[in-house]
Amino acid sequence: MKRLAIIFLTAAAAAPALADDVPFAEPFQKANAAPGGLADLMMMTQWRHIKTWYAIKRKNWDLLDYELGKLADTIERAAMLYQNIPVEFIEGAVKPLNAMRKAISEKNIAKVEIGFADLTAACNACHRAAQIGFVTIQTPTSLPFSDQKFLPPQQSVK
Ligand code: HEC
Repeated sequence: MKRLAIIFLTAAAAAPALADDVPFAEPFQKANAAPGGLADLMMMTQWRHIKTWYAIKRKNWDLLDYELGKLADTIERAAMLYQNIPVEFIEGAVKPLNAMRKAISEKNIAKVEIGFADLTAACNACHRAAQIGFVTIQTPTSLPFSDQKFLPPQQSVK
């Protein structure tokens, strides 16, 4: 929540300049921006969204906690670098991430899954606001990472 307060304070200072035709895609400080811009950060977010889902499916709590931390970091980075993103859409993604972390501590898989659905909805809400509603995120249907085991280490098969 402390982090969000910082975003609140700085958001007012950011002029809503637009890169290409995508709102929210202009970095606050160009020199510190992700190499390929916001879209590249989003690609990482997409991979981690998939990994998170399979960590849930395999009940790999440690991996799940790890991936959620990475997702939160990436979203926070996007918020810091692209400060014309309205804070409510960042909050929309941060809230389900926090809810999922709480559910992990309770080992409550049903609550984790609700959090994942809320997170996916938050991805799409921000995309619609950014006029890229055609980038529609859904619950993953297959796992593209054949070089990584998603079951906890003590269980042998994938
Ligand atoms: C706070 C706003 C916001 C949230 C939340 C958000 N996105 Fe994005 N996303 C964007 C914007 C803006 C772009 C367009 C960036 C550009 O084109 O420069 C984008 C683009 C993308 C792209 C297209 C990248 C490409 O090169 O094909 C993917 C995939 C993506 N987001 C996935 C996700 C996923 C998965 C989530 C949720 C876990 C998510 N996004 C949450 C704002 C958001």
